[in-house]
Amino acid sequence: MDYFIKDIVSILKNKIDLPEDEIKRQLEIPPDFKMGDYAFPCYSLSKALKKSPNVIASELAKTLHIRSPVVEIKATGPYLNFFLDKVIFSESVLKKMWDERERYGRNNIGADKTVVVDYSSPNIAKHLAVHHLRSALIGGAIYNIYSALGYNCVGINHLGDWGTQFGQLIVAYKKWGSEVIGKFCTVTDLNNLYVKFHQEAEKDPALEEEAREWFKRLETGDVEARKLWQNFKEASLKEFQKIYDMLGVHFDAFTGESFYNTMVEDTILEIKQKGLARLSEQALIVDLEPYNMPPCLLRKKDETTLYATRDIAAAEYRSKTYNFDKMIYVVGSEQKLHFKQVFKVLELMGYNWANYCVHVDFGLMKFKDGKMSTRKGKVVLLEDLLTEAVERIGKIIEEKNPSLENKDTVAKEVGIGAVIFADLSTKRNKDVIFNWDEVLNFEGETGPYVQYTHARLCSILRKYGKPVTADVNFKLLNEDETVVLIKSLWQFPSVILRAAESYESALICNYLIDVCGNLNRFYNTHRVLSDNEEITSARILLADATRQVIKNGLGLLGIHAPEQM
Ligand code: ARG
Repeated sequence: MDYFIKDIVSILKNKIDLPEDEIKRQLEIPPDFKMGDYAFPCYSLSKALKKSPNVIASELAKTLHIRSPVVEIKATGPYLNFFLDKVIFSESVLKKMWDERERYGRNNIGADKTVVVDYSSPNIAKHLAVHHLRSALIGGAIYNIYSALGYNCVGINHLGDWGTQFGQLIVAYKKWGSEVIGKFCTVTDLNNLYVKFHQEAEKDPALEEEAREWFKRLETGDVEARKLWQNFKEASLKEFQKIYDMLGVHFDAFTGESFYNTMVEDTILEIKQKGLARLSEQALIVDLEPYNMPPCLLRKKDETTLYATRDIAAAEYRSKTYNFDKMIYVVGSEQKLHFKQVFKVLELMGYNWANYCVHVDFGLMKFKDGKMSTRKGKVVLLEDLLTEAVERIGKIIEEKNPSLENKDTVAKEVGIGAVIFADLSTKRNKDVIFNWDEVLNFEGETGPYVQYTHARLCSILRKYGKPVTADVNFKLLNEDETVVLIKSLWQFPSVILRAAESYESALICNYLIDVCGNLNRFYNTHRVLSDNEEITSARILLADATRQVIKNGLGLLGIHAPEQM
């Protein structure tokens, strides 16, 4: 817990009729540091005291006992504002950061708790599309954020590797796949076969029947069907892994829909035994009308199971296997209804952990610059997007800093970082409007800007050339811009907590943009390196702390922080 809050609570408690926890909960950080470091709103005292909050605030300001580190208490309207001693504040913040370094911002509130995160989860035999990128990035960041809070995280890629479409693919492969048969096929080959199937099936509907037959054979473990499907899966995983490696996204398990194939029958049986299932037009459903939802389809009339059935079986399996405290599904908003239905069925099955399942949804990614969206049909291929970002950054580096060492590595880290940041900095329920010039700008609210600020700090520290020490004169860090910067660094741990609570990595992006802005204002007004050694070493400590916060923050987003660029 923030120890300054404790100090303020200790001044307020016994003087006002509220429990300590409630005081803590109500404390706010004023929007402008000139208004104080903490503010206590007096509204909630108004009723009991029968006075206006403004009167209460001004009375309290006169009667409360000021003690260190608080140096002033002032009433502003209904708020009671507390000012801390700047030197004590700066010293405690910077010393804490100095001690914690890469651990700064971390916490162990999640110790002994498990969070399952289901993200990316693309369908095999198709290219990874942009919404799988959004899911991979948002999910990856949530994974990192929860891990930083001490939770044991399990990252699952729930591959879409089961369903009637694999029957269709088998039919197409056997009929028109002569070019790829016996060879290691690519996702493009599979995609083409898939398209071909649909073209042909329009002319010859019997193909659909054949496909359903093949999927049934797959579900019942037919050797040939299994073998073909296995090939499709391997080809897809190979391509996906390449992109995950580019993005630095990691999974603990690739247990896709097929993994639950042997469990779905038990799940269906259980749902039946609990009296929840019934037949409707020969299909097995859970009626969700009382909850104002369409029925959840468990089994089609041809006996094959569905996406929802496998999600229910998967949730049961994960609960048994991981005994999670929370399960987060990072999937686009178009699946809102699907998850509402699945969670409702789990709840009706009597699982209280259904309440711990969350659908973290997100909007679309749209391309301002039409070029990307038409290159290969409607779908933007992820690999192309990432490669293009790296190429474009490579050119910018070539212009700006041609003598840079490891240019290729830096171009990769910055190009991919730019895409990640553009995605994550948009609040997730909004659509991302992807505009190359904005995304790659070194001066906008972008990944390259944050990385560049970090690299500049590294360069100052290199120039300084001496070890950084926390044994400095903190009285020298008292100018407005300096205090504002230190205050923003102080916010980092609470920003991580808020990002976790709201599953919103954009909070971390915005925060990093603020820190960079504060750093630049500080830097434009005060020289870090000067002949005055005492001032230099104090400002270097601050520069180093800022560098560390940026690096830690980028790390949570899955973005590298190159030292030179
Ligand atoms: N494969 C699905 C798709 O591409 C996403 C799966 C999300 N995860 C889940 N457990 N349903 O739309």
